[in-house]
Amino acid sequence: FVLLVVVALSAADGDDEFANYTITGRRFPDGFTFGVATAAYQIEGAWDADGKGEQVWDTFIHERPERVDDRSNGDVASDSYHRYEDDVRCMKEVGVDYYRFSIAWSRIIPDGDSETVSSKGIEYYTKLFKELKANGIKTMVTLYHWDLPTALEKKGGWLNPKIVEWFQMYALICYTFFGEYVDVWVTINEPKQICHTGYGNGAYAPGVVSPGVAEYVCARHVLLAHAGAWHMFDEQFRERLGSRNTIVIDSDWYEPATDSEADAEAAEVKRQFVHGMYAHPVFKGDWPQVMIDNVAKFSRLQGFNASRLPAFSEEEVRFVKGTYDFLALNHYTTYMVAAKEGLDFPAEVSWDADAGVDAYQKDTWQTAAVGWFKIVPWGFGKLLRWLKATYGDIEIVITENGVSDRTGTLRDQHRIDYFKAYMSHMLDAMYDGGVNVTAYTAWSIIDNFEWTQGFNAKLGMYYVNMSDPLRPRIAKDSSKYFANVISTRCLLD
Ligand code: NOJ
Repeated sequence: FVLLVVVALSAADGDDEFANYTITGRRFPDGFTFGVATAAYQIEGAWDADGKGEQVWDTFIHERPERVDDRSNGDVASDSYHRYEDDVRCMKEVGVDYYRFSIAWSRIIPDGDSETVSSKGIEYYTKLFKELKANGIKTMVTLYHWDLPTALEKKGGWLNPKIVEWFQMYALICYTFFGEYVDVWVTINEPKQICHTGYGNGAYAPGVVSPGVAEYVCARHVLLAHAGAWHMFDEQFRERLGSRNTIVIDSDWYEPATDSEADAEAAEVKRQFVHGMYAHPVFKGDWPQVMIDNVAKFSRLQGFNASRLPAFSEEEVRFVKGTYDFLALNHYTTYMVAAKEGLDFPAEVSWDADAGVDAYQKDTWQTAAVGWFKIVPWGFGKLLRWLKATYGDIEIVITENGVSDRTGTLRDQHRIDYFKAYMSHMLDAMYDGGVNVTAYTAWSIIDNFEWTQGFNAKLGMYYVNMSDPLRPRIAKDSSKYFANVISTRCLLD
């Protein structure tokens, strides 16, 4: 294969860099693999079929449909419960090495914590595993992608310390029934969204509004639950199954607003509050020191009699530390961060206020068609280099990256541009920065249900018409681009 050269026409950090980027095909290292990702609630539908239990997103949206922009829901979604063979056909067409998907807890244990396992649930995933195997597609399986059985939420959900046992029981069942089919396990997807959005600002299910308080309790339990499931895997399954296991942490990149020391410090604080909050306990042990310090100080000033950040005991620190086989990263966008001046302590009790900085996105940055994020490819490269500098020379797997639009157009050149530019910065970080990235997972293979944006945000490489009962999958241009990247193992222009 001829090795071609990457030409980045503009400065690495320029605002207009996206528009000018030219890439003419750089090779991925040998052994680098490509996948696509989905999650149960976003694609499966069949929300109450075959004895599946209700989960918090079913409840959250059925109770108040206006919580979703277009008042849609995941009751049918892309109907993958019935059309999983179509999904596998798409993946085969693109030529992916592996498929990352999640198991719905309430399909396996309808009420969350009883010993009654649903044979129909086991059957569905077994069929999917077999279909993938027959097509030579490896698997990366997420145990928990936000769909807590509602029966468990009624007992306090992620705020109840018992969740650690409940999750371990569920994990045990999945390892036991599906272990032979799974190449990589990821325990929990994006803890920040579970805790900050689910139990902090309440924008996501279960909609608990308790900023700066419950969200920290949730975070502690998520980390302990992950660690429990990881240890169980490590002790009882790893050797026999030969697979690997880790947690998926999402992070944006936080760039200092100016080159002042104060802004550099502020950006680092924000990174620790966002990524470090979950990664530090796993990769280094305990909460990041700046979180311990800030939350303790602000809690005191705000009149709490203890820090709102619940401590890990020494034993728990040891229990959580080291529970990874590699670092799994979901990444989409970037923020600028400026130090806040003249604030002795925040009046507001919240995770954001605890970080004590200003984070914002620039108007000049290109916005994804649905405005929840800006396209800033260079932030990806910086984040990867920071991860290496912060946690050491750890293997990194990109478990999600992708871009939305509103229409689901088949001519999705913007998605091709996004993949090219983001992967190019990833390659720079690998080749110039020595960052050990071994796999890249695109979100997503098919259009699906994008949480509170419903069907307004489409991120698939295949279009799915959500009004067509047959839900045909139709290839977008990006699927062909990604297929070419995979078959040539090069970033093509
Ligand atoms: C992160 C989440 O894991 C996934 O569920 C979501 O659809 C994508 N990002 C895009 O927002």
